[in-house]
Formats: sequence, C-alpha cells, structure tokens
Amino acid sequence: MVKVTFIEESGKRREIDARPGDPLMYAAKDAGIDGIIAECGGSAMCATCHCYLLEAPNGPLPEPRIDEADTIEFNAHAPQPTSRLTCQVMVSEALEGAVFQVATGR
Ligand code: FES
Repeated sequence: MVKVTFIEESGKRREIDARPGDPLMYAAKDAGIDGIIAECGGSAMCATCHCYLLEAPNGPLPEPRIDEADTIEFNAHAPQPTSRLTCQVMVSEALEGAVFQVATGR
C-alpha cells in the first residue's frame, strides 16, 4: 500500500492507504475523505473528485490527459495549475508521501 495524505475541506489532514494500480479516488472514497464525491464514478466528467496536488516528494506526476484537463478547465470549481481529478491519478509507489488538498466550493 502507498501512503497518501488528503487535507479535507475542514483543514483536517488524513493519511490513507492506497492500492497501487487503482485510481486514487477509490482509496479516497473508501477512506471517506470529506469532499470527494465522485458522482460520475471515475469517468473524468464530473470534477467532484477534484483536488490540488500540494506535495509530490518523489517527483512530478504524469501530466493530465486531455479529457482530465478539459474537465478541470470547464467543470471544476476554482481550477489551479496543481488541479487533478483523483479518479485519473493512478496509484503507484511514486505517489508515496504525496499530499492533496480537496478542492472546495463546488
Ligand atoms: S469521479 Fe467524476 S471526474 Fe473524477
């Protein structure tokens, strides 16, 4: 398992275990991270799994694919350069120690 930290909308930090090979959103949902809704089930369409990547201690993540980037641009509230859809971030060992802030205000 890979340890990833989420900062919830309340400011609470929660370190969770994520299974390599799964979308990060699955682990966030399983852990009940507040603010991760995932209405579309991981199809990169709803942006209700939107987070900001704050720390990636093992180097940058792969760039978002065009469908993820489009949904962030057109559907996400307050997109930033660090925005990611957690349903499109695949868990790998490279994600160990990463920190994501749940995007607020949908
Ligand atoms: S779950 Fe809908 S965009 Fe990620």
